[in-house]
Amino acid sequence: MKVEAPRVSQGTALILLLFFFLLLVSVLGASTDRDLRMSTRCPKPHFVLVHGYGGGAWSWYKIRCLLEASGYEVTCLDLKGAGIDNTNSTTIHTFDAYNQPLINFFARNLRDNEKVILVGHSAGGLSVTDASHKFSNKIQVAIYVAATMLKHGFVTDQDIKDGVPHNIAGGSKSQLHMSPQEDVVLASMLSRPVPLEALKQARFRGDGADRVRRVYIKTKYDHTLKPEQQDAMIKKWPPAPSDVFVLNTDHNPLVSDPFVLSGLLVKVSASTECN
Ligand SMILES: *[C@@H]1O[C@H](CO)[C@@H](O)[C@H](O)[C@H]1NC(C)=O
Repeated sequence: MKVEAPRVSQGTALILLLFFFLLLVSVLGASTDRDLRMSTRCPKPHFVLVHGYGGGAWSWYKIRCLLEASGYEVTCLDLKGAGIDNTNSTTIHTFDAYNQPLINFFARNLRDNEKVILVGHSAGGLSVTDASHKFSNKIQVAIYVAATMLKHGFVTDQDIKDGVPHNIAGGSKSQLHMSPQEDVVLASMLSRPVPLEALKQARFRGDGADRVRRVYIKTKYDHTLKPEQQDAMIKKWPPAPSDVFVLNTDHNPLVSDPFVLSGLLVKVSASTECN
């Protein structure tokens, strides 16, 4: 039996060839463009995460895991007397001493022209603002998570009222009322005493921090830094309206809603201009 081979005219063959050629060019083109963006124009985002009252680098263990699994570079720091830093907190008398590890990091540990995404939780917001004043050219975006956000630190009585949280005892149940019980226990085991008087001395001069884009992530059921306090600080030193987000969590979405928080951090990082 004779089987007829399908007949392809020369014209059709030429069109097919052209089609595959164009496909190849567009695939190669897309990948070079992406490689270029990753390697030179937009390097992989580097998150620097700063803990709050009594916390430490460990406070970010869930977020760090999620961001690293997604391929981001992540740095978590212990401020003075926090986490596994062996300074006795009774010897920390100034905010500058407390925040020295973050300032040293910016001064020494970044590559030339490198910019980071700086994230502060709770009192970590004071550290973020301090660094924004001093290293605005090294910060792509500053993200405050249920954090103290005061442009000049604690200057007036109203600043104290707005920016100092309630119930800061480490692992206190009211701070973590929507968090897994394991995390309440972990926090009660790892929290260190807070040099609160030193923190209240946080004062920042000038307008340097205004050069940094700020994002605020509010926590709706927060009994520690209450929503009214967060709103007052946002009103006083407002980020762009589209840069204010709300999570339906307690004071610590780092452990009570890590998937949503890390997703939001990635979303913000994707919306930054890289240079
Ligand atoms: C820290 O210093 C205080 C005052 O000197 C002392 O009472 C306390 O035992 C010290 N804490 C630790 C963990 O060494």
